[in-house]
Amino acid sequence: MPRKKQHIDAATAAKDASGKIYIVTGANSGVGLETTRQLVKQGGHVVMACRRVAAGEEAAASMAGLRGSTEVLECDLADLASVRRFVDAFKASHERLHGLMCNAGMVSMESAPIYTKDGFELTMAASFFGHFLMTELLLDTLKASAPSRIGILSSVVHAGTPKNRPAIHLDDLNFQGRDFNNFAAYGEAKLACVLYAKELAERLEGTRVTTASIHPGWARSNFGSGGSFLMRTAMTMMRPLTRSISDSNEESAQTALHVLLSDDAPNHTGAYFSQWSILYRDKTLNKGGWPMQSPNPNAHDMDTARALTAKARELVGLTDAAPGKAA
Ligand SMILES: NC(=O)c1ccc[n+]([C@@H]2O[C@H](COP(=O)([O-])OP(=O)(O)OC[C@H]3O[C@@H](n4cnc5c(N)ncnc54)[C@H](OP(=O)(O)O)[C@@H]3O)[C@@H](O)[C@H]2O)c1
Repeated sequence: MPRKKQHIDAATAAKDASGKIYIVTGANSGVGLETTRQLVKQGGHVVMACRRVAAGEEAAASMAGLRGSTEVLECDLADLASVRRFVDAFKASHERLHGLMCNAGMVSMESAPIYTKDGFELTMAASFFGHFLMTELLLDTLKASAPSRIGILSSVVHAGTPKNRPAIHLDDLNFQGRDFNNFAAYGEAKLACVLYAKELAERLEGTRVTTASIHPGWARSNFGSGGSFLMRTAMTMMRPLTRSISDSNEESAQTALHVLLSDDAPNHTGAYFSQWSILYRDKTLNKGGWPMQSPNPNAHDMDTARALTAKARELVGLTDAAPGKAA
């Protein structure tokens, strides 16, 4: 089985990022932490958007002494007011933003939907709506800092299987009138991320702000560790068995780093970039690609992508006129 993991090339890894400002969400753990560490090694300043500030500060301390710098700001993506406070705090001290990595994500481990105080299903809120609002509120700063880049963590799960492709349910994005399944919610949230990257790329044409969606690989991170005792025990026991088909957090950060730093990524704005994955059902796709075509036909539907943006703007309370092509 091919397991050739993709790494950023030497020129990308040697790029001087000093003077560049990045935001990485979920920067205290897993993929986000290793993405942050490499950006800081290369001289960048990373604003670590974390819902647990103490965990963010502990992670930041592990990077003290590297060339660049970090700061930790609180942000709970499952709380729109928290996202707005984060953006206000960021803008109060930064006029430029060269890279936004919408990295944080989770899957609810409950069999019934949990609703946030804003009325969103939790997995959709933390894995899509929170980043959607953050990105929309930061577009002016990203445009003023161009060339700049936006990466959005999706997952191979958005692709599903030939018999069961995740689809966007515009009339019921939050599982209020249909059966709930936590992994279906995760697949739909991650499909929404792929479509949003495409829609943004279209809207931002000509601004030199470029976008991408990302499958990071099968990361040996803390992902999925929030379940019941039984689930956590099962995950821990499976670790040695899945080691040979999973990736370190450093390997899982490579695709995000390629999107933020490589010369080539901006040539493919809106595209889906994937680390290798055993989980693509069509084995010809296992090797992934920077970029690659998603095998899910629903990930290529621009009418749905535009309608999703319009609906999401309404749901997160962005009530001004529907966004057209960037000014
Ligand atoms: N692990 C995989 O194999 C895999 C595969 C495909 C895609 N992904 C995606 O990769 C991204 C990174 O995941 P990971 O593997 O690095 O997992 P991880 O170690 O669990 O890290 C997830 C990060 O997201 C943060 N987060 C969760 N809910 C949040 C919220 N409501 N507000 C703000 N931050 C929140 C977590 O904060 P706390 O530490 O406070 O919980 C943590 O910092 C996610 O988007 C995930 O969906 C992962």
